[in-house]
Amino acid sequence: MSDATLFLMVGLPAAGKTTRARELAAAHRALRLTPDHWMIPLFGDSMADGKRWVLEGRLVSVALQALRLGTSVVLDYGLWGRDERSALRWLARWCSATCQVVYLPVEKEMQLARIAARRETAAHETFPMTEADLDGWRPQFEVPDAAELGGGELPEPPPGWGNWGEWAADHWPSCLDG
Ligand SMILES: Nc1ncnc2c1ncn2[C@@H]1O[C@H](COP(=O)(O)OP(=O)(O)OP(=O)(O)O)[C@@H](O)[C@H]1O
Ligand SMILES: [Mg+2]
Repeated sequence: MSDATLFLMVGLPAAGKTTRARELAAAHRALRLTPDHWMIPLFGDSMADGKRWVLEGRLVSVALQALRLGTSVVLDYGLWGRDERSALRWLARWCSATCQVVYLPVEKEMQLARIAARRETAAHETFPMTEADLDGWRPQFEVPDAAELGGGELPEPPPGWGNWGEWAADHWPSCLDG
């Protein structure tokens, strides 16, 4: 194992991921990768016709390079899906790094309050979000289970995939291109 750790920030919008990610990056001298802070200056849009997945893939590639160099990384992606998290946990092992899932739960009332406050103070770092958006997103979020939080065994990749690296390369185009 290298000394490097891959921190995976997991949580719904306004859960406090980027705030905690900044703290972790400072505490562990880690590289923080926050896709929103690239999507907004580049495209002014969170998805940009799917370019988000390419951008996230390029940032995963940067993350893997850093881990191999012994630098810890904070991946500030949200990671709503268990498959995404499993793939990144697998990739961390592939790079001989440790992986830590950092889950930040948040209730809807807190989300609304924080989103309103953030629009006042840091509108350039985020996108507009309505209460209807929040209601639609919450059921899509897969809460991390005990194995994920405790660094337990990885599940098998979905049928059709030989390993999680192949799944990741399909989900995040170009994530394995050096
Ligand atoms: N522990 C906390 N206590 C109080 N306020 C907080 C806390 N964590 C974050 N905030 C505030 O809540 C707002 C949202 O936090 P942050 O931007 O870190 O969330 P996020 O999970 O990164 O959201 P997004 O998914 O939209 O990027 C910010 O204005 C931040 O200052
Ligand atoms: Mg954020």
